[in-house]
Amino acid sequence: MRFHALPILTTLLSLTFNPLPTSASLPANITADLGQYLSPGAQIVLPGSSNFPFYDERWSDGGRPIYGPVVVVATEKDVSVSVKYANAHKVPFLATTAGHGTWWGLAAFDGGLVIYMRNLNKLEVLPDGKSAIIGGGIIVDEVIHGLWPYGKQTTTGACNCVSVAGPALGGGHGYFQGQYGNLGDQVISARVVLASGEVVTADETRNADLYWALRGAGHNFGIVTEFRYRIHDIVEPTWAYEFLIFDHSKVEEIYTVSNEMMESQPPQAILWSTWVMNVTIDPVHPIVNYSIFYNGPYDKLREFTQPLHALKPLSSLSGTTPYPELTTLTGQQVGSVLCGYQGSVKEFPFDVVKYDVPGILKWWDIYSAGIKAEPALDKTFCLLEGYSWQAVQAVPAASTAFPHRQQRLLLSPVVTYDFTANTTLDDVATSWGEAMRAAGRGKFKPRSYVNYASGDETLQALYGYEPWRLARLRQLKKKYDPKGQFNFYAGIH
Ligand SMILES: Cc1cc2nc3c(=O)[nH]c(=O)nc-3n(C[C@H](O)[C@H](O)[C@H](O)COP(=O)(O)OP(=O)(O)OC[C@H]3O[C@@H](n4cnc5c(N)ncnc54)[C@H](O)[C@@H]3O)c2cc1C
Ligand SMILES: *[C@@H]1O[C@H](CO)[C@@H](O)[C@H](O)[C@H]1NC(C)=O
Ligand SMILES: *[C@@H]1O[C@H](CO)[C@@H](O)[C@H](O)[C@H]1NC(C)=O
Ligand SMILES: *[C@@H]1O[C@H](CO)[C@@H](O)[C@H](O)[C@H]1NC(C)=O
Ligand SMILES: *[C@@H]1O[C@H](CO)[C@@H](O)[C@H](O)[C@H]1NC(C)=O
Repeated sequence: MRFHALPILTTLLSLTFNPLPTSASLPANITADLGQYLSPGAQIVLPGSSNFPFYDERWSDGGRPIYGPVVVVATEKDVSVSVKYANAHKVPFLATTAGHGTWWGLAAFDGGLVIYMRNLNKLEVLPDGKSAIIGGGIIVDEVIHGLWPYGKQTTTGACNCVSVAGPALGGGHGYFQGQYGNLGDQVISARVVLASGEVVTADETRNADLYWALRGAGHNFGIVTEFRYRIHDIVEPTWAYEFLIFDHSKVEEIYTVSNEMMESQPPQAILWSTWVMNVTIDPVHPIVNYSIFYNGPYDKLREFTQPLHALKPLSSLSGTTPYPELTTLTGQQVGSVLCGYQGSVKEFPFDVVKYDVPGILKWWDIYSAGIKAEPALDKTFCLLEGYSWQAVQAVPAASTAFPHRQQRLLLSPVVTYDFTANTTLDDVATSWGEAMRAAGRGKFKPRSYVNYASGDETLQALYGYEPWRLARLRQLKKKYDPKGQFNFYAGIH
């Protein structure tokens, strides 16, 4: 059983979010009534029907929306018709692709019309060899494996079961961002269903203002049915990897050295670490699992990671793999444990330009103490992602709505627990997460990647501190989504 109403949310929502009317009043004959306007490939799945749980499945209960009827769309027109139908009945609608979103404001969606995008998963390499049409419902796995036979690749997220549209609309991080730019940077044009149900194209020349907003604040502006997306020749198919395990005594040195390594981090190199409890290795303290990925031969990676080896890891594991297997190696392939249902998850992300080492040590101490004090939260881990950034920073900062180009690290406690077992855990989890974030950020301003954000961040932390950014987004919101119908996910108000 999963719980939907979370007490802490009510307070958070009233601060950051103006919920739409949530009482759904869709006609009981919706299958026939809406169905007559849909394409033959579309389907309407009602709550309570035997296949509803398949569509209702989400990665976590963090921000779980309550689904009303689900329209499994098969065409762009199905999306448009569904939006118009919801509007005609004054009922909220919500697009969903892979169901991995954890923004807790999604929980304000209560019984409205769900537009299930997964079947819009076309992938077509265009004759120019530099772009592909990819569906708004495609997932990472389909893009990687769909492009590989053509000798092509592109920036996607690092986890095969996540969508492309979800991350791309918030900027989007992935292994290739240092070489090609972030996910949003790959978008040449987009077909978008607006809040009115009207379908438009957004690119440099058509609806250029919408095109700007889609790449960083896109969840607020429409439903993307397809992208024209940049693709790139595979020049170096091999990725080298190394996992170094360190005990708690090395934390200060690890992140001091990491700051130094970042000064010469090549665009091919990714520096990631996770903090986890592993009682086989250390029954008392969490450990650091430092993962390094390098798009190239192992000796290049090894040269770069020398300063980490000098810190004498407890163990190391290394090798090389073709790119499509990299996700399997990190346990993020379709069907993996990490792709499955996780219980309640709340992330507390912060983006920074480098490690504030004293702050990192405080974060470690709060993590270490909390994980011992609360056995019910012991699946909680911390994620320290150091993607490369060169091609991200080569894109002019003002040219898209993504505001974090200068930040090189994406850090976050990932608080994981079973909310259904004990409802008071939620308050404990939230205050622990907030304490870790506040400590880890150290001297830096709060900035949070919108796709990891939990829901209590300020709009400035999500969309940028430069006053012109929010002013522009608010103006575009009035133009494209005047009633705030896309406000369930990090809504601009
Ligand atoms: C295990 C895991 C791994 C992750 N890895 C990465 C990563 O490597 N890089 C990264 O940048 N992020 C990553 N994320 C974060 C990810 O970007 C967000 O969770 C994202 O919102 C997921 O999109 P979704 O389609 O899976 O989820 P959903 O919950 O279906 O959608 C999330 C939001 O996007 C909207 N949306 C979905 N599809 C469309 C569409 N076609 N048009 C318009 N709006 C749409 C939905 O309405 C919703 O508001 C990861 C998350 C998880 C849980
Ligand atoms: C569904 O019911 C409404 C009344 O609630 C009616 O106006 C409409 O014609 C019906 N649609 C179909 C296809 O039966
Ligand atoms: C803990 O570490 C051991 C030894 O390295 C490893 O085999 C095991 O998979 C780890 N457990 C988890 C949950 O990661
Ligand atoms: C370290 O991380 C890698 C990649 O996720 C994983 O395969 C390995 O089991 C981890 N090791 C430990 C000890 O947790
Ligand atoms: C629920 O969790 C809180 C916080 O961890 C704890 O104090 C309390 O004892 C737990 N209650 C039950 C019934 O497990």
